[in-house]
Amino acid sequence: MAVRRDVVADPEELAKTAAQRLLARIDAQRERIAVCLTGGSGPKRLFELLAGEFATRIPWSRVHWFIGDERFVPLDDELSNMGTARRMLLDGRAPAENIHGIPTELATLDDAALTYQRTLQAFYGADQLDPARPLFDLVLMGLGPDGHTASLFPDSPASAEQQRWVVGVETAHVSPFVPRVTLTLPTLASCREMLFLVGGAEKRAVLSRVLAGEDLPATRAHSLSETVWLIDRAARPEEFDA
Ligand code: 6PG
Repeated sequence: MAVRRDVVADPEELAKTAAQRLLARIDAQRERIAVCLTGGSGPKRLFELLAGEFATRIPWSRVHWFIGDERFVPLDDELSNMGTARRMLLDGRAPAENIHGIPTELATLDDAALTYQRTLQAFYGADQLDPARPLFDLVLMGLGPDGHTASLFPDSPASAEQQRWVVGVETAHVSPFVPRVTLTLPTLASCREMLFLVGGAEKRAVLSRVLAGEDLPATRAHSLSETVWLIDRAARPEEFDA
């Protein structure tokens, strides 16, 4: 269980490095690849690069795209995490059957969470996660100002969930204040690489708490294999020497 922290110059280098890591994960697999995307503003430049200069290097037919958490809004709402990923990156490139979004059109959060859990289990081919066989090749993660990641907020039952793969979250602790559906920590941990994207001075205070080991969802989130924190200089806490 290795954890690495890499400091890069700025948001552009952050996105480029993330794109290169994604391609390296793809190149390491001969068969299908599973990538779990993140929401928020963090991955937007990465999506642009993947849709632009990196697009021809992605073997689209064998890459499957999932989302780590979703706001409970329609896909065409600008708050939708998968909606954003689709508009910026996937539509017109990824085959429709390789795009696995959380079904927010269902009646309740729990219906959406359980349906997505079944989608993940069908893709994985089992309903128990085997530590020796990761669900995802790469899981992208962001860091929220209160130490949340995905939609796992501090002191929320979702952040302590150990059995369910996916759960509903009625109340978001930060904007946008819409209900969410989120993968749980054990599900997110089932990956070859978890890659945090942390850029901008507004992340510095919370990153400092995470690096000090404070008990926050983002501190507890890790891959069973390799976890990489990609941090840009503006986000890097003063006390942290890379
Ligand atoms: C969401 C995200 C969330 C996000 C962090 C950081 O749906 O909001 O998945 O976990 O990654 O809040 O968001 P920013 O990248 O916008 O700062």
